[in-house]
Amino acid sequence: MRRVRIIGIGPGHPDQVTVEAVRAMNEVDYFLVPDKTDGHAGTGELLRAREEICRRHLSSPRPIVTVPDPERDRDDPADYRKAVEDWHEARAAAFEQAMAAHPGDVGFLVWGDPSLYDSTIRVVERVLARGRLAFDYDVVPGVSSLHLLAARHRLVLNDIGTSLTVATGRRLPAEAAAGADNLVVMLDGALRCAALPSPSSWWIWWGANLGSPHESLAAGRLDRVLDEILRVRAETRNASGWVMDTYLMRRLPR
Ligand SMILES: C[S@@+](CC[C@H](N)C(=O)[O-])C[C@H]1O[C@@H](n2cnc3c(N)ncnc32)[C@H](O)[C@@H]1O
Repeated sequence: MRRVRIIGIGPGHPDQVTVEAVRAMNEVDYFLVPDKTDGHAGTGELLRAREEICRRHLSSPRPIVTVPDPERDRDDPADYRKAVEDWHEARAAAFEQAMAAHPGDVGFLVWGDPSLYDSTIRVVERVLARGRLAFDYDVVPGVSSLHLLAARHRLVLNDIGTSLTVATGRRLPAEAAAGADNLVVMLDGALRCAALPSPSSWWIWWGANLGSPHESLAAGRLDRVLDEILRVRAETRNASGWVMDTYLMRRLPR
């Protein structure tokens, strides 16, 4: 049976790829990589990070088949879920076409861990559901950016006996208003923590471009450290050509 491997490759550094992921990478015939042609800043650099991981860990080179990524409505569409589902379906059709044209076992190199804010598992399931191709697929876990954030700040993500909320920047204001007091925030291009009411009641542990040569960290009470984060974030973007950041927010005891 044909195999599809969805392989978590960690947040960018070749040392953070697991032994299991290396084995899976060496077992596939080629990699399928969505080609984001939307001019998204940093796409080239992230592709180069993937190429470096392949160079370090493949015993012999594998072809990389790029698949044009369908357009997605990024402007907060009225029906967000429907817009994402349409995009997943268009992606599934593109993957199906590429897999039909290229026989053999396929590897998807997923940034971080495939279970967190990544659509590859859902899209591969859609390819199967479309019924044209038959294959087995599995998922190889990766080090997520939230794990690397915790390690760099030497953090336990949950406070003793409390819960951890993982949210997007878009959801942060609503989660905080609903009483969440220990949150990891991802996918926050707008650094929405800056607009939270009473910033002096939060501690933040922040990290950008973790695992890359321009990794940067900051931590402190939100009102005191925000300017530093904004400055370092801009410097990191200038130095790397891209910036991706993740942070833990914890409400301080009154
Ligand atoms: C589409 S999500 C993918 C998350 C990924 N699956 C993971 O497990 O880390 C992209 C978000 O992950 C976070 N992220 C990914 N790589 C990162 C890195 N090297 N440093 C800091 N944050 C990162 C950022 O919050 C970014 O907006």
